[in-house]
Amino acid sequence: MAVRGLFIVVEGIDRSGKSTFVRALAARLGNSEIMSFPNRQTQIGSMINSYLTNSIHMSDEAIHLLFSANRWECKGLIEQTLNAGKNVILDRYAYSGVVYSAAKGLDLEWCMASDIGLLKPDIVLYLKLDPREAQLRGNFGEERYEYLDLQKKVSDNYDMLMGKINNCKVLDAALPTESLLELAELGSVDTTKALEKLW
Ligand code: TYD
Ligand code: MG
Repeated sequence: MAVRGLFIVVEGIDRSGKSTFVRALAARLGNSEIMSFPNRQTQIGSMINSYLTNSIHMSDEAIHLLFSANRWECKGLIEQTLNAGKNVILDRYAYSGVVYSAAKGLDLEWCMASDIGLLKPDIVLYLKLDPREAQLRGNFGEERYEYLDLQKKVSDNYDMLMGKINNCKVLDAALPTESLLELAELGSVDTTKALEKLW
């Protein structure tokens, strides 16, 4: 069987530069598929989109479970892509699911429960940015969660959660993309080990 691909997750608050970084990472590595969560292309994703753009209301618990379901519906594709030897680079994953919902006041363990059994990435690259810096970047404020008070809580939750997991690398999101690519040190990631469960 072909050697499996690298499984990389990029996380960070809104406007931390994840999408730009993910594209640069894919170009640098080659042989890579980028997937973003939420994946707004599915039916579940379309409900999430309506929620984020404030055109429908939902309880915090219900939207949390939809974000999680949106990952579950993509699990098979992620696994197949990795096993076919391609790298998978995710723009957000279950870590987002937990830190945003917990920032709204939901219990941390309850938030983690719906993602039990998803696949664990080889490495999580956390683009850490001061929420006040993020606020100054273009288009901040467009979607439901883009206001400073919430982003501060999300940022604190990221610091806490990323400190607990053993496969996270914290990167200073204020650095240029080129430096971030070097600091990520992806050459040292071991892809010979089998895929594990997230938590
Ligand atoms: P975002 O990455 O900004 O999407 P896009 O790149 O399409 O603009 O994600 C949209 C929002 O959804 C963002 O504020 C984070 C939030 N979110 C959650 O609350 N829970 C989740 O599980 C995920 C994946 C995202
Ligand atoms: Mg956003």
